Amino acid sequence: MADYCISVSDLRMNYGNFVAVDGVSFNVDYGRVFGFLGPNGAGKTTTIKVLTTLLHPTSGSVSIFGKDVVKHAKEVKKRIGVVLQEPSFEGNVTVEKALDLYGMMWGVPGEKRRDRARELVDRFDLQEFKGKKNDELSIGQRRRVQVAREFMHDTDLLFLDEPTVGLDPAARRMLLDYVKKHVHGGLTVFFTTHIMEEVEYLCDEIAIINKGRMMAIDTPAGLKQRYGGIKALEIKLKGTAQSVMDIVRPVAGGSAIEIPAEDTVRISSQNAQELLVKLIEALARNSVQIESVSVNPPTFEEVFLTVVSGKD
Ligand SMILES: Nc1ncnc2c1ncn2[C@@H]1O[C@H](COP(=O)(O)OP(=O)(O)OP(=O)(O)O)[C@@H](O)[C@H]1O
Ligand SMILES: [Mg+2]
Repeated sequence: MADYCISVSDLRMNYGNFVAVDGVSFNVDYGRVFGFLGPNGAGKTTTIKVLTTLLHPTSGSVSIFGKDVVKHAKEVKKRIGVVLQEPSFEGNVTVEKALDLYGMMWGVPGEKRRDRARELVDRFDLQEFKGKKNDELSIGQRRRVQVAREFMHDTDLLFLDEPTVGLDPAARRMLLDYVKKHVHGGLTVFFTTHIMEEVEYLCDEIAIINKGRMMAIDTPAGLKQRYGGIKALEIKLKGTAQSVMDIVRPVAGGSAIEIPAEDTVRISSQNAQELLVKLIEALARNSVQIESVSVNPPTFEEVFLTVVSGKD
């Protein structure tokens, strides 16, 4: 077995003169969920298309299971599954038929196909509309079928390009949990999304790209530690927040101050710990009574925005 499930080295992809992917390198371990994030137009889908042999890279190298994707495209293709961002389905066949056809296309034997389809109809809650044609489905229902279909065949590596777009909260959670279950069984997943809660829920490692360039790559916790300089400091008072503003303002300096509740002051700062000590001292000097204090870590959304803005 090769060292990495995916190994990408200095990948470049141009569309004519336009550079969509500009020298990206990363490795993905087996049995992990690799989150590939970035703003619209960052180059995520383009990268996925190269990794899944749909596009030829302009330069650089990509290996999947240790096999070069250009030289061994067929072999690689056999072992991977792809759910692309754009819808791809046959409009005039029923959901049930579509699942069966897809299994057939991948050479899944009859009995196994029927078992799989039954499980997927159940798991992805397709029962109610399994007899309908794809064209007659809602957007979220279509997406569910499109993702479910990819589980008709066995894969070692699954690419999911924004699989949860259009899914309701229950369907989204079901999908994430279904993916997790397969990852525990050894599947490797390459995942893109714009929903940061999904990133924290699912991903073991995260790469953030912007304008075709790699901006950061780490575990979710690692990224938070590295880029999460700003923390929210909250002080709950026995009295009103308004009455202590004259004490808080000079200590907070230029930091943003909010009053999220009548009795609470929130300050966002790079030096939350230091500020906390100074504030408690100042409040105590003025005999202000404090109910509770908390310093909250940044959200992953804040981390993402910091990384793509290029400010460290
Ligand atoms: N076929 C194409 N021809 C020319 N330019 C393209 C083509 N496909 C994509 N691009 C450009 O390449 C860049 C990267 O596109 P890509 O689809 O990879 O972005 P993305 O990160 O997947 O964005 P999104 O979050 O919106 O899905 C964009 O600027 C896009 O306009
Ligand atoms: Mg995309």
